[in-house]
Amino acid sequence: MHEFKYVNNQLYCEDAQVGELAEEFGTPLYVYSYHTLVDHFMKLKNALHRLDPLICYSVKANSNLALLKALVDKGAGLDVVSGGELFRAQKIGCPAQRIVYASVGKTDHEIEEAINRRILFFNVESMAELENINRISARLNRVTQVAIRINPDVEPKTHKYITTGKLTNKFGIDFNSAARIFSLRNRLSNVKITGLHIHIGSQITESAPYIAAINKVTAFIAGLKKKGIELEYLNIGGGLGIVYDREKPQTAEQFARKVVPLLEKTGLRIILEPGRFIVGNSGILVTKVLYIKSTPKKKFVIVDAGMNDLIRPALYEAYHQILPTRTKNQGSGSEKVDVVGPICESGDFFAKARRLPKVKEGDYLAIMGSGAYGFSMSSNYNSRRRAEEVMVVKDKVFVIRKRETHQDLIDNETIPPFLLGL
Ligand code: LLP
Repeated sequence: MHEFKYVNNQLYCEDAQVGELAEEFGTPLYVYSYHTLVDHFMKLKNALHRLDPLICYSVKANSNLALLKALVDKGAGLDVVSGGELFRAQKIGCPAQRIVYASVGKTDHEIEEAINRRILFFNVESMAELENINRISARLNRVTQVAIRINPDVEPKTHKYITTGKLTNKFGIDFNSAARIFSLRNRLSNVKITGLHIHIGSQITESAPYIAAINKVTAFIAGLKKKGIELEYLNIGGGLGIVYDREKPQTAEQFARKVVPLLEKTGLRIILEPGRFIVGNSGILVTKVLYIKSTPKKKFVIVDAGMNDLIRPALYEAYHQILPTRTKNQGSGSEKVDVVGPICESGDFFAKARRLPKVKEGDYLAIMGSGAYGFSMSSNYNSRRRAEEVMVVKDKVFVIRKRETHQDLIDNETIPPFLLGL
């Protein structure tokens, strides 16, 4: 279920007219539905209730404080990957024991900060990192909990840039090396290995890759048990796919039916790190048509959002549905167009050769499914101010990040005195 729908030819987000939001707040504008966000979180939580898992929302998908607070208030934990994300988690008052920390490249400073905050555990990605966490913990006179991130070498059947659980990827530790780490664990007295972690990729639409990975990991856990090594946690990562186009991703219930029996057998506390599943279809990017341009080969709809606002089409050739915010009083019929932004790159597009209802200058378009990896991957390229973000709760609208100003763009820059003739 999501709360973006047409009523009387107008696109609504909950009870707010998207076209009116665009008029009021300007474009490009990210619009989030509070109820869709919470509903997706609850859907997963309810489907997995037999496990009573800790669902750590993956902050990288969308790190706006308002969204984080909404989810944490519903019982979510957070999956963070940097000092910045940890700072956000702390700002919204996420209990430290609901925070897990991943990343192949944690710095000493980040590790120390997370230890001091007493997070639940680190997902560790290499022996070198484990030794480093041990060293820093010893200096701080602490014993730090960690989970070993396993690279189970399974094919998640998704885009190659978001495949993470193959041995050719930089992530995790293969089973043999993990076994070696467990055999050496007594040498590292300031870390306690309490769990295993896997995250095999993103936008995974089938359950088979999860089952394959979970089976491999549970066999490994059984092997550890035989050696007298007991764990507490199994973190199965994120990656659940959503509908952008015509995908038929597994629902939360279908996923649960397949994985719960496997996970229950482990007797371990289960953790998940979903991002896209929760926030992806909770947000849209609204943009205004600036110009229509016909060339001998094509028709371009030039809009005021660019690849700096939503990079997924440019980076992964990702498909996002594009809907006009009103369906009446537009040019009749449909036509094949490229929807492109104003940025000086040919990769700056949202759709290519897409059949859309005829639009004209001044119309608004909604780029759907932009809640995950939309704003969080946005940039100031071409010295463009990052978009405003609003959250809709029924008929109430809240600005959750105001549009940047030109001054914001240069605030951290300085011109050396010699260039100023001083
Ligand atoms: N856990 C770990 C360790 C991760 O690396 C990720 C995502 C997640 C959880 C959450 O994955 P999700 O449930 O959202 O699939 N920018 C790309 C996606 C990159 C995913 C990075 N890691 C995109 O726009 O498709």
